[in-house]
Amino acid sequence: MKIAVLGAGHVGPVVARLALAAGHRVTIAGSGDPARIAMIVDFLAPGAVPLPAADAVADADLVVLAIPWHRFPALEPGMFEGKVVVDAMNHWPPAEAPLGTSEDVAARLVGAHVVKALNHIAYQDMEPAGGRAAGVAGPADAVAVVAEFLRSLGFDPVPVGPLTAGRHLEPGSPLFGVAAGRPEFENLTKLAKERS
Ligand SMILES: NC(=O)c1ccc[n+]([C@@H]2O[C@H](COP(=O)([O-])OP(=O)(O)OC[C@H]3O[C@@H](n4cnc5c(N)ncnc54)[C@H](OP(=O)(O)O)[C@@H]3O)[C@@H](O)[C@H]2O)c1
Repeated sequence: MKIAVLGAGHVGPVVARLALAAGHRVTIAGSGDPARIAMIVDFLAPGAVPLPAADAVADADLVVLAIPWHRFPALEPGMFEGKVVVDAMNHWPPAEAPLGTSEDVAARLVGAHVVKALNHIAYQDMEPAGGRAAGVAGPADAVAVVAEFLRSLGFDPVPVGPLTAGRHLEPGSPLFGVAAGRPEFENLTKLAKERS
Protein backbone atom coordinates (compact mmCIF):
# COMPACT_ATOMS: atom_id res chain seq x y z
CA MET A 1 0.00 0.00 0.00
CA LYS A 2 0.96 3.65 -0.30
CA ILE A 3 0.94 5.08 3.20
CA ALA A 4 1.14 8.77 4.15
CA VAL A 5 2.07 9.61 7.72
CA LEU A 6 1.28 13.12 8.88
CA GLY A 7 3.44 13.91 11.88
CA ALA A 8 7.14 13.31 12.38
CA GLY A 9 7.30 13.47 16.17
CA HIS A 10 7.08 10.46 18.49
CA VAL A 11 4.41 8.37 16.76
CA GLY A 12 4.83 9.21 13.06
CA PRO A 13 8.33 7.80 12.52
CA VAL A 14 7.49 4.57 14.40
CA VAL A 15 4.44 3.97 12.22
CA ALA A 16 6.50 4.86 9.14
CA ARG A 17 9.23 2.43 10.14
CA LEU A 18 6.79 -0.41 10.78
CA ALA A 19 5.08 0.28 7.47
CA LEU A 20 8.38 0.27 5.58
CA ALA A 21 9.38 -3.00 7.23
CA ALA A 22 6.06 -4.44 6.05
CA GLY A 23 6.91 -3.48 2.47
CA HIS A 24 4.63 -0.46 2.09
CA ARG A 25 5.67 2.73 0.32
CA VAL A 26 5.72 5.57 2.82
CA THR A 27 5.60 9.33 2.59
CA ILE A 28 5.83 11.48 5.72
CA ALA A 29 5.19 15.13 6.54
CA GLY A 30 5.60 17.59 9.37
CA SER A 31 3.84 20.92 9.45
CA GLY A 32 6.32 22.74 7.25
CA ASP A 33 9.18 22.41 4.81
CA PRO A 34 10.11 18.71 4.39
CA ALA A 35 13.78 19.72 4.60
CA ARG A 36 13.14 20.33 8.33
CA ILE A 37 12.35 16.64 8.93
CA ALA A 38 14.73 15.13 6.37
CA MET A 39 17.41 14.28 8.91
CA ILE A 40 14.95 12.84 11.46
CA VAL A 41 13.35 10.71 8.77
CA ASP A 42 16.71 9.55 7.47
CA PHE A 43 17.65 8.47 10.96
CA LEU A 44 14.34 7.13 12.30
CA ALA A 45 12.53 5.88 9.21
CA PRO A 46 15.05 5.52 6.39
CA GLY A 47 13.23 4.95 3.12
CA ALA A 48 10.25 7.11 3.98
CA VAL A 49 9.94 10.11 1.66
CA PRO A 50 9.56 13.51 3.37
CA LEU A 51 7.14 15.73 1.46
CA PRO A 52 4.85 18.69 2.12
CA ALA A 53 1.64 17.32 3.69
CA ALA A 54 -0.54 17.78 0.60
CA ASP A 55 2.00 16.00 -1.63
CA ALA A 56 2.50 13.23 0.90
CA VAL A 57 -1.23 12.53 0.95
CA ALA A 58 -1.96 13.03 -2.76
CA ASP A 59 -1.03 9.54 -3.91
CA ALA A 60 -1.68 7.63 -0.69
CA ASP A 61 -4.13 4.76 -0.19
CA LEU A 62 -4.12 5.27 3.56
CA VAL A 63 -3.23 8.30 5.68
CA VAL A 64 -2.21 8.17 9.35
CA LEU A 65 -2.91 11.34 11.34
CA ALA A 66 -0.17 11.43 13.98
CA ILE A 67 -0.30 15.11 14.84
CA PRO A 68 -1.41 16.88 18.02
CA TRP A 69 -5.18 17.29 18.19
CA HIS A 70 -4.92 21.07 18.51
CA ARG A 71 -3.09 21.18 15.18
CA PHE A 72 -5.80 19.27 13.32
CA PRO A 73 -7.72 22.42 12.29
CA ALA A 74 -4.66 23.50 10.27
CA LEU A 75 -5.09 20.58 7.85
CA GLU A 76 -6.80 21.30 4.54
CA PRO A 77 -9.85 18.92 4.48
CA GLY A 78 -10.01 18.66 0.67
CA MET A 79 -6.79 16.69 0.40
CA PHE A 80 -8.35 13.71 2.24
CA GLU A 81 -11.26 13.24 -0.17
CA GLY A 82 -11.73 9.50 -0.84
CA LYS A 83 -8.85 8.47 1.43
CA VAL A 84 -8.89 6.00 4.28
CA VAL A 85 -7.72 8.10 7.23
CA VAL A 86 -6.47 6.61 10.49
CA ASP A 87 -7.07 9.03 13.35
CA ALA A 88 -4.34 8.21 15.86
CA MET A 89 -4.87 11.47 17.75
CA ASN A 90 -5.90 11.98 21.34
CA HIS A 91 -7.57 14.91 22.97
CA TRP A 92 -6.07 16.15 26.20
CA PRO A 93 -7.58 16.57 28.70
CA PRO A 94 -10.12 13.82 27.90
CA ALA A 95 -12.94 15.49 29.82
CA GLU A 96 -13.12 18.16 27.14
CA ALA A 97 -13.99 15.62 24.44
CA PRO A 98 -16.35 13.06 25.95
CA LEU A 99 -17.30 11.70 22.53
CA GLY A 100 -13.71 11.38 21.38
CA THR A 101 -11.99 12.97 18.43
CA SER A 102 -12.90 10.81 15.47
CA GLU A 103 -16.45 12.00 14.95
CA ASP A 104 -15.10 15.55 14.78
CA VAL A 105 -12.43 14.37 12.36
CA ALA A 106 -15.00 12.66 10.13
CA ALA A 107 -17.28 15.70 10.25
CA ARG A 108 -14.48 17.94 9.04
CA LEU A 109 -12.89 15.53 6.53
CA VAL A 110 -16.05 15.10 4.48
CA GLY A 111 -15.45 12.45 1.81
CA ALA A 112 -12.74 10.66 3.80
CA HIS A 113 -13.20 7.24 5.40
CA VAL A 114 -12.14 7.89 8.98
CA VAL A 115 -11.11 5.11 11.35
CA LYS A 116 -9.89 5.43 14.92
CA ALA A 117 -6.80 3.32 15.55
CA LEU A 118 -3.29 3.30 17.00
CA ASN A 119 -4.13 6.11 19.45
CA HIS A 120 -4.39 3.85 22.50
CA ILE A 121 -0.90 2.38 22.18
CA ALA A 122 2.09 4.38 23.46
CA TYR A 123 4.69 4.85 20.77
CA GLN A 124 7.24 2.90 22.85
CA ASP A 125 4.88 -0.11 22.76
CA MET A 126 4.30 -0.03 19.00
CA GLU A 127 7.56 -1.59 17.94
CA PRO A 128 7.79 -4.45 17.68
CA ALA A 129 4.03 -4.79 17.37
CA GLY A 130 4.41 -8.34 18.61
CA GLY A 131 0.85 -9.40 17.89
CA ARG A 132 -0.56 -6.86 20.37
CA ALA A 133 -4.22 -6.05 20.05
CA ALA A 134 -4.92 -2.81 18.20
CA GLY A 135 -8.46 -1.50 18.59
CA VAL A 136 -10.15 -0.23 15.45
CA ALA A 137 -13.37 1.79 15.28
CA GLY A 138 -15.15 2.99 12.17
CA PRO A 139 -17.28 2.03 9.17
CA ALA A 140 -16.88 -1.63 8.18
CA ASP A 141 -15.27 -1.14 4.74
CA ALA A 142 -12.62 1.25 6.01
CA VAL A 143 -12.05 -0.86 9.14
CA ALA A 144 -11.30 -3.83 6.87
CA VAL A 145 -8.62 -1.82 5.04
CA VAL A 146 -7.09 -0.51 8.27
CA ALA A 147 -7.21 -3.96 9.86
CA GLU A 148 -5.25 -5.39 6.94
CA PHE A 149 -2.72 -2.57 7.28
CA LEU A 150 -2.35 -3.11 11.05
CA ARG A 151 -1.99 -6.85 10.57
CA SER A 152 0.82 -6.21 8.09
CA LEU A 153 2.60 -4.15 10.77
CA GLY A 154 2.37 -7.05 13.21
CA PHE A 155 -0.66 -6.02 15.29
CA ASP A 156 -3.78 -8.08 15.94
CA PRO A 157 -6.57 -5.69 14.88
CA VAL A 158 -9.70 -5.85 17.05
CA PRO A 159 -12.80 -4.03 15.73
CA VAL A 160 -14.61 -2.33 18.61
CA GLY A 161 -17.55 -0.88 16.69
CA PRO A 162 -18.47 2.14 14.59
CA LEU A 163 -16.71 5.47 14.82
CA THR A 164 -18.72 6.45 17.90
CA ALA A 165 -17.03 3.52 19.69
CA GLY A 166 -13.69 5.24 19.09
CA ARG A 167 -14.17 7.01 22.39
CA HIS A 168 -13.55 3.65 24.10
CA LEU A 169 -10.00 3.79 22.77
CA GLU A 170 -9.33 7.30 24.07
CA PRO A 171 -7.94 8.74 27.31
CA GLY A 172 -10.19 8.02 30.26
CA SER A 173 -11.19 4.57 28.96
CA PRO A 174 -9.81 1.33 30.48
CA LEU A 175 -8.47 0.54 26.98
CA PHE A 176 -6.31 3.62 26.76
CA GLY A 177 -2.61 2.83 27.05
CA VAL A 178 -3.28 -0.89 26.84
CA ALA A 179 -0.63 -2.88 25.02
CA ALA A 180 -1.91 -6.40 25.49
CA GLY A 181 -3.00 -9.51 23.67
CA ARG A 182 -6.50 -10.03 22.31
CA PRO A 183 -8.09 -11.82 25.33
CA GLU A 184 -7.19 -9.01 27.77
CA PHE A 185 -8.11 -6.38 25.21
CA GLU A 186 -11.52 -7.94 24.59
CA ASN A 187 -12.23 -8.13 28.33
CA LEU A 188 -11.32 -4.47 28.71
CA THR A 189 -13.48 -3.57 25.72
CA LYS A 190 -16.46 -5.15 27.49
CA LEU A 191 -15.63 -3.22 30.64
CA ALA A 192 -15.25 0.06 28.71
CA LYS A 193 -18.64 -0.42 27.04
CA GLU A 194 -20.36 -1.34 30.34
CA ARG A 195 -18.99 1.80 31.97
CA SER A 196 -20.17 4.19 29.26
N1 LIG B 1 3.14 9.83 22.10
C1 LIG B 1 2.45 8.68 22.11
O1 LIG B 1 2.87 7.65 22.69
C2 LIG B 1 1.15 8.60 21.37
C3 LIG B 1 0.58 7.33 21.14
C4 LIG B 1 -0.59 7.24 20.38
C5 LIG B 1 -1.18 8.38 19.87
N2 LIG B 1 -0.61 9.61 20.14
C6 LIG B 1 -1.25 10.78 19.55
O2 LIG B 1 -0.62 10.97 18.28
C7 LIG B 1 -0.48 12.35 17.99
C8 LIG B 1 0.98 12.70 17.82
O3 LIG B 1 1.66 12.43 19.05
P1 LIG B 1 3.25 12.60 19.15
O4 LIG B 1 3.59 12.21 20.54
O5 LIG B 1 3.91 11.94 18.00
O6 LIG B 1 3.37 14.20 18.97
P2 LIG B 1 4.68 15.06 18.74
O7 LIG B 1 5.88 14.27 19.14
O8 LIG B 1 4.42 16.38 19.35
O9 LIG B 1 4.76 15.22 17.14
C9 LIG B 1 3.78 15.90 16.45
C10 LIG B 1 4.18 15.99 14.99
O10 LIG B 1 3.05 16.51 14.27
C11 LIG B 1 3.55 17.43 13.31
N3 LIG B 1 2.50 18.33 12.85
C12 LIG B 1 1.85 19.31 13.51
N4 LIG B 1 0.95 19.90 12.71
C13 LIG B 1 1.03 19.28 11.50
C14 LIG B 1 0.38 19.45 10.25
N5 LIG B 1 -0.56 20.38 10.10
N6 LIG B 1 0.73 18.64 9.23
C15 LIG B 1 1.68 17.67 9.37
N7 LIG B 1 2.34 17.48 10.53
C16 LIG B 1 2.03 18.28 11.59
C17 LIG B 1 4.65 18.14 14.04
O11 LIG B 1 5.45 18.81 13.10
P3 LIG B 1 6.13 20.25 13.42
O12 LIG B 1 7.28 19.94 14.32
O13 LIG B 1 6.48 20.73 12.08
O14 LIG B 1 5.07 21.08 14.12
C18 LIG B 1 5.34 16.93 14.70
O15 LIG B 1 6.21 16.30 13.76
C19 LIG B 1 -1.17 13.09 19.15
O16 LIG B 1 -2.49 13.38 18.82
C20 LIG B 1 -1.10 12.08 20.30
O17 LIG B 1 -2.14 12.28 21.25
C21 LIG B 1 0.53 9.73 20.86
